[in-house]
Amino acid sequence: MAEKNLTFPKDFHWGTATAAHQIEGGNTNSDWWRLEHTPGGGTAESSGDACDSWNRYEEDIAIVASLGMNAYRFSVEWARIEPAEGEFSKVALDHYRDVLFACRNQGILPVVTMHHFTLPQWVQDAGGFESPNIVSWMARYAGVVGEALGDLIGVACTINEPNIVAITGFLMGMFPPQVQSWDRFSAVNTTMRACHVAIRDALRAGPGSFPIGIALSMQEWEAVDGAEDSVASMREEMEDLYLRAAQEDDFIGVQCYTKMQIGPHGMVPPPPDQMLDMGYYYWPQCVEHTVRRASDVAKVPVIVTENGIGTTNDQQRIEYLEEAISGLHRAISDGVEVHGYFQWSLLDNFEWLHGYRLKFGIVEVDRETFERTPKPSAHWYGELARTGVLKTA
Ligand code: NOJ
Repeated sequence: MAEKNLTFPKDFHWGTATAAHQIEGGNTNSDWWRLEHTPGGGTAESSGDACDSWNRYEEDIAIVASLGMNAYRFSVEWARIEPAEGEFSKVALDHYRDVLFACRNQGILPVVTMHHFTLPQWVQDAGGFESPNIVSWMARYAGVVGEALGDLIGVACTINEPNIVAITGFLMGMFPPQVQSWDRFSAVNTTMRACHVAIRDALRAGPGSFPIGIALSMQEWEAVDGAEDSVASMREEMEDLYLRAAQEDDFIGVQCYTKMQIGPHGMVPPPPDQMLDMGYYYWPQCVEHTVRRASDVAKVPVIVTENGIGTTNDQQRIEYLEEAISGLHRAISDGVEVHGYFQWSLLDNFEWLHGYRLKFGIVEVDRETFERTPKPSAHWYGELARTGVLKTA
């Protein structure tokens, strides 16, 4: 078959994504750090020094630029910015200003996430997402960050995967605070949407003018053996309530990795030959599916704020990305308004409960020296970003 060139829009954001706790290191004031040091807490290991990106961010951003991307998504860490209630760290805010400058100086659009999974310990101690104060704390935090950084922000994501924080923390009992209750899960989803609005409005009121949206985890859902009703209620709670609320936003951030099959007894594991290290179904088609669905329901432009694969086989990563991004191109060709794509992740980093075993990075990080080495997939993706053309076989 002849090689086909799939051309993307000229002003498309091509980037890669990271999160503070997963790459910075030493996030000692967060609830996750405490979990990692609680016997029986469930994490494979401590995040420790992570990728030392707190010190090496300039090198990270230089890699992003030299590979050919034009955007970089990272998060600012609440536990560093507000280590105690109402006490804001000038040093942390200045640090993130430097990170934003480093992006701007290298022609990289900074996409800033305000909350990516972690809470300051004082917030968790006071009830976390179940505290009656959480919305006002988030609003105050966002106001301070917006005031300090807003003039340099390119795009803002308010909350990363609020629905995953809710389901893993309050229904599955895995993430802090490790609760198992549908009612509390559902209540936290409602709170998350209020937090999102509070952050969005605080940022809108501050300096700078940039698109703001939420970064939602989405799946391609499939009902097995008559579990249509379970799928429908799960999809409503996990996605559609958020997507409908996003009609007031500037964009909807879509994050997807896989297909989720649900049967009468819950989640059905993928067939062994299609199961990835993370337990995910190998399903790159999910990008096209979720982007179309997000656009249909939210009716605002889409940014794929995360997509990728955890694998030690880098050739498999290239194949996955090629298929995922081809599907994205089909959606765009059919008129879906998509403004960007962010591969997860720049670096092999701390994959939450799994620790460092899972490899989502296009750049390898030596765990002793922190030396960064781009993999073949980094060069493959860099060429796509530089040219805006996906060459498929
Ligand atoms: C979603 C999360 O935002 C990110 O933190 C995580 O590492 C990736 N998915 C891969 O699981």
